[in-house]
Order: sequence, then C-alpha cells, then structure tokens
Amino acid sequence: MNSNKVKVNKIQLYQTNLDKIPIYLTRKLTMNSETIPLSAVIILSILSFFGAIKVLNVTYRLIGFFYRHFIRGNQNLYARYAGTQQAATWAVITGGTDGIGLQFAKDLACQGFSICILARNETKIISKLAEIKDVASKAGHVIQTAYEVVDFSKQYHIEDYAAIVQRLSSLDVGFLICNAGAAAVGDFTNLTNEQVERTLVADALQYVYLIKAMLPRLLLRESQRSGLLIVGSGLGSFPCCGWLALSIVKSLQSFLGQGLNYELRHKVDVTSFECGEVVTQTNNNPPNFFRCMPDVATKAALRDMGKDAVTCGTWRQEFRMWSRKTFMTINIQNKVFYDLSRDMFENKK
Ligand SMILES: NC(=O)c1ccc[n+]([C@@H]2O[C@H](COP(=O)([O-])OP(=O)(O)OC[C@H]3O[C@@H](n4cnc5c(N)ncnc54)[C@H](OP(=O)(O)O)[C@@H]3O)[C@@H](O)[C@H]2O)c1
Repeated sequence: MNSNKVKVNKIQLYQTNLDKIPIYLTRKLTMNSETIPLSAVIILSILSFFGAIKVLNVTYRLIGFFYRHFIRGNQNLYARYAGTQQAATWAVITGGTDGIGLQFAKDLACQGFSICILARNETKIISKLAEIKDVASKAGHVIQTAYEVVDFSKQYHIEDYAAIVQRLSSLDVGFLICNAGAAAVGDFTNLTNEQVERTLVADALQYVYLIKAMLPRLLLRESQRSGLLIVGSGLGSFPCCGWLALSIVKSLQSFLGQGLNYELRHKVDVTSFECGEVVTQTNNNPPNFFRCMPDVATKAALRDMGKDAVTCGTWRQEFRMWSRKTFMTINIQNKVFYDLSRDMFENKK
C-alpha cells in the first residue's frame, strides 16, 4: 500500500519537474550567451562553417560514388564517336595485344569499332586481331582491322609519332587509347640507365607525342565527338617509393589527361584511367578483393569514359585509392610501399 503511494508521488514529482525543463534551459542558455566570450563565438562559427563545407563535400563525393558505380550504366561509345559517313570508325589502341589493351580492343570491337593495334610483335598482333574479329562477329559486328609494328621504347622524337599517324591517315580514328607500357620497377638507385631511359621513352614520350601527333586528326573530324582514353595507374597519384620510375611517368600521364579533359571539352572526351591492380602478364598474381580481371577493369573504365576526367575503374579500386589517400600520410605511404617493394623485388633476385 505504502510503496504504491511512494511510486505515485515520484511520478507526480517527475511530471512537475518536466514542466520546468524548458524554463530551466532558457535561463541556462541566456546566462551562457552572456558569459561566452566573443572570440569563442567567432571561432565556433568559423569551425561550423568549415565543418558544413566538409560535410557538403563528403556528401557530394558519396553521391558521385554511388551514382558512378551503382546507377550509371554501360555506354554505347560507338554511337557517340562514330562518323556520320558509312565508312568504318576506328579505335587505335597502343599495346592492344595483351592484358588491359587487348580487353579494350575486344570491348570496343563488340560495339562496332574497327580496331587498329600498335605493338611490337607482328605474329602476336595478327593472331590477336583474328581473335578480336571473332569476338566482334559473335556480337553481331563485321569489323576491319589494321596494325603497326612499333616499339615505343625506340621512338625518341615527335616526328616518329607524326610518321605513325601519317601511316594511319586513311582511317577515320574516332577513339585513341594510349595503354602500352612496361615501366621498370624496383629501387630507383638500382635501375640501370637503360631501364630508366626505356621507361621514360615508352611510357612518357609515347603518351605525350602520340597524343600531340593525333590531336589534329581527332579535332578535325567533321562529324561527332572523338574519345581519348589514357591508361595510367593509381601509383601515379603519389610518389610511390619502390615503383618511382613507374610512378613519375604515370603522374605525367594523369596530368596530361586531366588537363586535356578541360582544354578539349568542346570536341574530344578525355578520361584518365588511374587503373588499380589487374591480373595480366605484368601483374601475374591471382585475383582478389582489389585485384580484378581485365574485363572487369575495362568495363568500369568505359562506363566512365567521357563522363569523368579521372576514373579508378571499379568501386573496390576507387575505395582502395580513397582509403589510402584519407588514412595514410605521405610518410606512412612511403614506408609501406618501399618495404613492400623491397620484399617483392629482393625475393625475386
Ligand atoms: N596490370 C596492372 O595491374 C596495371 C595496373 C595499373 C596500370 N596498368 C597499366 O596498364 C597498361 C597495360 O598494362 P598490362 O598490365 O595490360 O600490360 P601487359 O599485359 O604486359 O600488356 C602490355 C601491352 O603493351 C605492349 N607493349 C609493351 N611495351 C611496348 C613497347 N615498348 N612498344 C609497343 N608496345 C608495347 C605489349 O605488346 P607487345 O609485348 O606484343 O609489344 C602488350 O600489348 C600499362 O600502361 C600499365 O602501366 C596496369
């Protein structure tokens, strides 16, 4: 009986106190605003302003991430870049005989592009072009093929590239993919002079000179827009110790792509593909959560072609790149990658 009475009284007490909370809070706030110094109010306002900007920035990027990977679908690039004439529209792909380049060639052939490959080994080029033609015909397209045997590590002058482009003058090139590369890896001090030169010539000069030589052709096409895809690497987004030669040429490629994306926006779509790990002959490791097969990587890159200045490809690779940039300082990155490269390259010796 007694305990019930006590309970009732307690509830009544809470209810009466609840009524008083707003009055109490108002008093407290008024008192505080009188006591908070002006400097603290200014600092708090500045912090809230920058906090709000950061929140907006993160929200914008998150929306972009979800849109890119889960809403934006495949594109018909042939419809976008094909000429208005009946003649074939060509995709020229450097290093189209293997790995990522070969997969791009197959994907574009399946959309209707005729394929021209620039690589070193003629027998291999001919056999891969037959394979590409076969894949295209299964997708319902009769395509033409062409090739140039060229070793980019021996093309030192811009005139060499002008000559290559001249030899392709009969083709209506609507899409150029600069992809060929085999940069030397390992401690920069231990690379031979020949390795450094080959990397710089094949991976840096090729991209700059071939694009420079091909641009007038892409710009002068009467019909629609043209496409230019630059296959770089995520390792070009920071000075990657242990892979420094690769890292510097990839950063050059990325800058070139991003700059041209804006300069040429009226006529040519330019996208820089900051590729993550892909299983190929140069990265001969089994696939895992972050390391994908070439068809997965190229599908994601072609989805973003002309839509974004830079793409990392799949959502996993974009997430991996974002986490590295967000959670690792440059010193930690240096240590992790340098130690990793030492393990990999010292073990291989
Ligand atoms: N695989 C990855 O994990 C990865 C990651 C990031 C970025 N990437 C980039 O993706 C691109 C393609 O790499 P990949 O892994 O697909 O390589 P890949 O399987 O070794 O294929 C390289 C292609 O480039 C050609 N090539 C190499 N050196 C050449 C030269 N000096 N002159 C002419 N052609 C040459 C090769 O053809 P021939 O040997 O027949 O001449 C081959 O068709 C490279 O730029 C690479 O840096 C790859």
